[in-house]
Amino acid sequence: CEKDLESAERTFIAIKPDGVQRKLIGEIVARFEKKGLKLVGCKLIQPSRKLAEKHYAEHKGKPFYEGLLDFITSGPVFAMVWEGKEVVSTARSLIGLTDPKKSPMNTIRGDFGIDVGRNIIHGSDSVESAQREIGLWFSKNELTRSSVTIEKWIY
Ligand code: PPS
Repeated sequence: CEKDLESAERTFIAIKPDGVQRKLIGEIVARFEKKGLKLVGCKLIQPSRKLAEKHYAEHKGKPFYEGLLDFITSGPVFAMVWEGKEVVSTARSLIGLTDPKKSPMNTIRGDFGIDVGRNIIHGSDSVESAQREIGLWFSKNELTRSSVTIEKWIY
């Protein structure tokens, strides 16, 4: 119903420039869809330095910060918003650990990555971060309010 759609949890997911260049968009989207999550917005966008700085603001000053900004702004990013029950933690399970070498097989980073600086995908780490990041990357009219619900077949 309308109320459920309004209150459904959402998360921000971005396939980073390495994932886009390596043509992993289809593979990654397929994993999210097959899990039972719902795509409510997406776009291919090369983020400005300003957007990247806002997105990674909490990491300013860390040794990897400047390199991370160089990397994330180096090419197109496939930005997405996904919706579903406990989607923030569900998406993080699909993604795996920060360091792809330590990430288990059958996770996106475990299956496709080696280097922590090229870890393919970003996923919000909390519901609060998700709301902040969705607001940074998307305007409201870029996100759908789907009239088709499949939740009753999943939960
Ligand atoms: S921290 O310090 O524990 O808060 O950092 P962490 O949450 O592990 O990572 C924060 C984001 O920085 C990325 N990261 C790195 N990028 C490049 N090089 C190195 N060494 C590195 N270490 C961490 C990490 O992937 C996180 O970005 P996102 O986009 O969330 O994956």
